[in-house]
Amino acid sequence: MINSFEGKAPVIGDGSYVHPSADVLGNVGIGSGCWIGPGARLRGDYGRIEIGDNSSVEDNCVIHARPDEQTTIGAWVTLGHSAIVHNATVHDWALLGMGSIVSDWAVVGEWAVVGEGAVVIQGQKIPAHSIAVGTPARVLGKKIEEAYKAKWREFKKVYVDLAARYPAGLT
Ligand SMILES: CC(C)(COP(=O)(O)OP(=O)(O)OC[C@H]1O[C@@H](n2cnc3c(N)ncnc32)[C@H](O)[C@@H]1OP(=O)(O)O)[C@@H](O)C(=O)NCCC(=O)NCCS
Repeated sequence: MINSFEGKAPVIGDGSYVHPSADVLGNVGIGSGCWIGPGARLRGDYGRIEIGDNSSVEDNCVIHARPDEQTTIGAWVTLGHSAIVHNATVHDWALLGMGSIVSDWAVVGEWAVVGEGAVVIQGQKIPAHSIAVGTPARVLGKKIEEAYKAKWREFKKVYVDLAARYPAGLT
């Protein structure tokens, strides 16, 4: 469902798709070309949520923000199944693995990868182009290289394409 809350309605860009079982509530901005999957919950009641173009929010993700604060998710970001982002910032092209948690005031840098099940704790900064795994998340020595980016650019496009396929494809 896409609902207003206290007069604030979600603003959803052209070519973005919100699955019927997802909830997008209140003060939420979603760019164009985004895919919001089944069971996702984006709750902009006492805080705001902003998502850039071409990002995917897979099944059962939860996004929320603290009172009068904002969760910001950039462009071409992938939120794997059941990821949680709470009052945090995730920069462009980042990947949050399945079941990961990014907590209050944390920042995930551009092209950073958060491994499956990791917890980026309150205020933690994950540098751009790094990989962080575990709880609390620890940054591995290796960096995201061009080959990895090429693979993920393709995968991220699959979700932009899905956003176009779903309106007619879901029967
Ligand atoms: C996180 C990720 C980048 C790691 O890839 P990688 O660099 O090839 O990692 P490796 O397999 O070489 O592992 C490196 C280290 O991290 C550890 N590790 C990897 N993934 C981990 C995880 N999810 N949790 C805890 N530790 C993990 C490995 O055990 C290894 O530890 P060691 O150095 O002590 O032996 C990769 O698994 C990934 O992209 N995951 C996200 C997948 C996803 O959720 N996609 C979205 C859904 S569609």
